[in-house]
Amino acid sequence: MVTKPLKVAVLISGRGSNLQALIDHFGPVITTSPVRIVTVISNRPGVQGIERAKKAGIPTAVIDHKAFPDRIAFDASLDRAIREAGAELVVLAGFMRLLTEGFVAAWKNRLVNIHPALLPSFRGTDTHRRALKRGVKMHGATVHFVRHETDTGPIIAQAAVPVLMNDTPDTLGLRVLQAEHKLYPLALRLIAEGRVTLDDERAVVDGRAEPTVLFSPAL
Ligand code: GAR
Repeated sequence: MVTKPLKVAVLISGRGSNLQALIDHFGPVITTSPVRIVTVISNRPGVQGIERAKKAGIPTAVIDHKAFPDRIAFDASLDRAIREAGAELVVLAGFMRLLTEGFVAAWKNRLVNIHPALLPSFRGTDTHRRALKRGVKMHGATVHFVRHETDTGPIIAQAAVPVLMNDTPDTLGLRVLQAEHKLYPLALRLIAEGRVTLDDERAVVDGRAEPTVLFSPAL
């Protein structure tokens, strides 16, 4: 049982459905929760995710990247806001800006991302269309510690979903998103409970049941 919740800053750029899953899972103010969202920061004004946070009573900030001369200045402002909020972990949830090497280094192993593919396959954007084109039979989502190279870093947790015969990028994307909404709360809980350790660049999670084998197509 965790007595002191892990304080996290959630960074978003849009819709915020993963943020909502975290709010629903951990609650904004429940003291027994292992995770407390202390701030939600968006780099885009007027996005739905900010409204979701406000509705949950979580402090919000909009730091518009367009107002800064370069990435370094933007990231410095981001860093300041995160530290002022007292966050110990930075959670990227649909945050669509590349972070500078300095920022990533400053938050090393305290910065996590969710990516809509089974890394190391399909780094980058447009993952669902590319997965369909490639004909993979399993697709999914990955939560990982962030390293400087985009969509790399120790893998903390993954969720796999089958690719179905008549899938479009939208239907497959929705199936993955529903998995993301379960995966991110699980991964943050594991981190908050101190159950994720690093063995070189490999994240090791203790105490989980062995996963059953997934088949696609089904046996
Ligand atoms: C999610 O599918 C997330 O995995 C993806 O953006 C979506 C955000 O949705 N992130 C990335 O592609 C990061 N490279 P949400 O705003 O509804 O959570």
